[in-house]
Amino acid sequence: MKKPLVVANWKMYVEKPETAKKFALSLKRKLRTASADVVLAPSSTLLPTVSLATKGSSVRVAGQTLSAYTDGPHTGDVSATMLKAAGATWVIVGHSERRRDAHESQEAVRAQIESAHEAGLVVVLCVGETERDPAGAHFSVIAGQLVSALANGGTKILAKKIVVAYEPVWAIGKNAAEAVHPADLREMVIFIRKNLADILGRSVGVKIPILYGGSVDASNATELLKEGDIAGFLVGRASADIDSFTEILRVCKK
Ligand code: 13P
Repeated sequence: MKKPLVVANWKMYVEKPETAKKFALSLKRKLRTASADVVLAPSSTLLPTVSLATKGSSVRVAGQTLSAYTDGPHTGDVSATMLKAAGATWVIVGHSERRRDAHESQEAVRAQIESAHEAGLVVVLCVGETERDPAGAHFSVIAGQLVSALANGGTKILAKKIVVAYEPVWAIGKNAAEAVHPADLREMVIFIRKNLADILGRSVGVKIPILYGGSVDASNATELLKEGDIAGFLVGRASADIDSFTEILRVCKK
């Protein structure tokens, strides 16, 4: 059985190099007994610190976003090459907070994936509806996001370097009781898998790992993992504290 994959999206919760370093060194020690693959996504200012502190361990490091441009006059942007130079081998793309705060369009998300892949980065592509619709319209939202991000990618989109994270916007930043219901998660995972198979071809589409994110902590992780049929988690708030994060890793044992 493959180990669950747990991606820690620190958002702006971890601010200082000394805090990031302490977390990373502590995680490295605790990971010897953990049963999950871990990726840490600090803000870009903390990437070099986290990369250095996790060197020699199985922990991988991710950017939280990247520019849709590869280089040139784009003030404030961070390119795939810059992320790589700072030690990242993964990157989160299309997070709902980027779609909301930075108005990232579907086209930008698509360009970011291509740029990340050209630089050799593994992409965690976030998809998620803002609200559930009793008539099921949220399914077409997810399908639309997947198609615009991945369809007709030719050689630019590397299916082997994609992980999809289902993060319903309404479940982000709440408490565990407000996370998605495991049965609803399972249904959505089947739907996403079917869409990935349609877009990328069955043999590759069904192999793409699907994560869940949105109010995950140690109290709901086991059930979501088992009942949701997911490969792991993309964790926000609970990933920024070493105790709550390692507790999630501990309960992730299938
Ligand atoms: P929370 O775990 O804080 O709900 O955030 C989820 C998320 O957005 C991870 O990318």
